[in-house]
Amino acid sequence: MHNSTSVKIISCLSILLMLVGCDNSEKNKITIQNKDNIINQKVDSLLALMTLEEKVGQMNMYNGFWEVTGPVPKEGNAKTKYEHLKKGWVGGMLNVRGVENVKKVQQIAVEETRLGIPLIIGFDVIHGFKTINPIPLAEAASWDLEAIEKSARIAAIEASAAGINWTFAPMVDISRDPRWGRVMEGAGEDPYLGSKIAKARVKGFQGDDLTKANTIAACAKHFAAYGFTEAGKEYNTVDIGASTLYNSVLPPFKAATESGVRTFMNSFNDLNGVPVTASKFLQRDILKTEWNFDGFVVSDWASIYELINWGRAKDEKEAAKIASKAGSDMDMEGNIYITELANLVKEGTVDIAVINEAVSRILRVKFQLGLFDDPYKYCNLKNEKENIGTKLHQEEALDIAKKSMVLLKNENNLLPLKKEGQHIALIGPLAAEKNSPLGNWRLAADDNSAVSVLEGMQAYSKNILNHKKGVNLIEGNTTFFHKVKINTTNKNGIKEAVLAAKKADIVVMVLGEHGFQSGESRSRTRLDLPGLQQELLESVFAVNKNIVLVLNTGRPLAITWAAKHIPSIIVGWQLGSQTGNAVAEVLYGDYNPSGKLPMTFPKSVGQIPIYYNHKNTGRPDNNASNVFWSHYIDEANSPLYPFGFGLSYTNFTYKNLKVKGSNFFINATVNVSVDVSNSGNIKGKEVVQLYIRDVVASIVRPVRELKGFNLTTLNVGETKTIQFELTKAQLGFYTNKGVFIIEPGDFEVYVGGNSDAKLKTTFNLE
Ligand code: NOJ
Repeated sequence: MHNSTSVKIISCLSILLMLVGCDNSEKNKITIQNKDNIINQKVDSLLALMTLEEKVGQMNMYNGFWEVTGPVPKEGNAKTKYEHLKKGWVGGMLNVRGVENVKKVQQIAVEETRLGIPLIIGFDVIHGFKTINPIPLAEAASWDLEAIEKSARIAAIEASAAGINWTFAPMVDISRDPRWGRVMEGAGEDPYLGSKIAKARVKGFQGDDLTKANTIAACAKHFAAYGFTEAGKEYNTVDIGASTLYNSVLPPFKAATESGVRTFMNSFNDLNGVPVTASKFLQRDILKTEWNFDGFVVSDWASIYELINWGRAKDEKEAAKIASKAGSDMDMEGNIYITELANLVKEGTVDIAVINEAVSRILRVKFQLGLFDDPYKYCNLKNEKENIGTKLHQEEALDIAKKSMVLLKNENNLLPLKKEGQHIALIGPLAAEKNSPLGNWRLAADDNSAVSVLEGMQAYSKNILNHKKGVNLIEGNTTFFHKVKINTTNKNGIKEAVLAAKKADIVVMVLGEHGFQSGESRSRTRLDLPGLQQELLESVFAVNKNIVLVLNTGRPLAITWAAKHIPSIIVGWQLGSQTGNAVAEVLYGDYNPSGKLPMTFPKSVGQIPIYYNHKNTGRPDNNASNVFWSHYIDEANSPLYPFGFGLSYTNFTYKNLKVKGSNFFINATVNVSVDVSNSGNIKGKEVVQLYIRDVVASIVRPVRELKGFNLTTLNVGETKTIQFELTKAQLGFYTNKGVFIIEPGDFEVYVGGNSDAKLKTTFNLE
């Protein structure tokens, strides 16, 4: 135990240890089950010592005194917060970072309160901490679970070194709507890929042992269905059916619980009329009962208070009652529980059992984090100095950044660029950007700390590189808190850019969205290149057609004109600290692109929601000359680029798709194999994807569903046989009552390099 820890906590803990009858030497021998039992006993013992107010205090979470990530509520002034901290009326804090700052608040909780219960310290460690990794949507495009886990691990190492013990990640919201700004924070549209990534990220943050000083508690958010916000508008209503809820929305959350995620966050939306913060169905019936989740649920920022705005609660008192009964355990910066709950218990409106349960859950996580053994275990100045922003972390950030890029088009093999003898014009408002590539969730990063594409390319080759901005994307500076102002008037730089393009062999254009155009509360109605960039692109194209477009974006964009005219397009998302180095390495061919889209790119906004795993409908596309089928009269049904799509500098061919057998008993394992060859001229990595279709079912199944994928590296001319296993878990589905079933009948299997794969076989379950 740390020297400065108060006498109070020492005596409190020794009472607890006496109560559970366990000393340190015995501890080493005990099994995980026993460990859980011991923690539960410690929780019960501590709970028995607590007053009602102290219990409610554990359910209260305040924003710190330094930075905010939401609207500041009227009551939330610093003076009250300090007073509450001193009384032991605060269970957790967010947005406190840095060893000195964390120590300041932890010391108050541990050394100045009656029971000395340590705080849990949360922060949005979403895609890195100081070393910024690619935005999560970009990482999902790598389909590389090992790399994704590593990225989360590094984020946890840095955050924990800065005093943080809890991240509000992973966001596992499935979304089919790129208008919604938060698609940048998730893994895209598919529940199978989303579930695998949820597990990888939880594992990365939490590691194998939560008591270690470099692991932190993860948080699966936002529970649930936030990604289906109507019209992609932030904080909007959600109205979806049971089949979508059970089969698309919930699986990644369930996967997170299976990998031991310690906390959940609810969300701002309602679900079919019930604000989810008030949803007993989601929080108690599904999460805590059916899935047996024993961690705690934190509200989203003031979402308990917002029950009043929704029209679900008439005042703060009712909001506190409804949310606590529904299973929201901790109130994030809402000031509702701390002011209302104790009275509600005293007057008999809320049962003390509700409070005891919530507090037990919160304390359990604190014990599991080892905070009672050493509340300052995350407050080590040496660790902070040595483990943040290290060279190794930067190298890992570069590694996953390369893996996240997706090549959409490469006509005439414009890419890779030649390392010498090419005259390159580098054009676009994002080419020299050092801030935008850091993306949206980057509060702990230094502003302008990313390697720009210009810097990356300058360092990479001796080619003549003539850089021209062309146009500004935004006006003035922008931050996490403010709306970006897009430049729609100043075109002064276009002429210069066109002149540079005229003289060049190849033009590399870095266009797209600013990092602060996606993320929370950054919904868009248009999905074009913002501002004057389309005009810039067309002006350059008029004088030089050899354009490589590096598309920076936090969401799928409807770049239909570019897809038709520009010969080479590569998605460079917001790739974090190492952006420029990653882009240069890929453009110059030292890394052969291997990313695949985790979300469909639409042709136009009117196609949204557009997703590969849609239903067939009663009148599917049949190329009929009449109009009576499911389509638009002014746009095709097909997307611009489908889910799972991504090219390489080499070619892959698929052959010999086989199912071992053709008729199976319902619970059998179905073995599928396919031969994949590298038929091009350079070594490459392919994401081999397997999709199924359950042809006839009691609940209509999608035309395709991803049920397996395999990353494989192939040398030139090499062929590998890739094996997949399909079990009940992949072949079944949820009924509208949430029961998982598997039904006999015909199944189709498709394997290939994207969701439009043509190679097909079938089998039957009986
Ligand atoms: C609101 C966001 O919805 C949530 O994802 C985030 O973790 C909290 N603010 C805390 O910053």
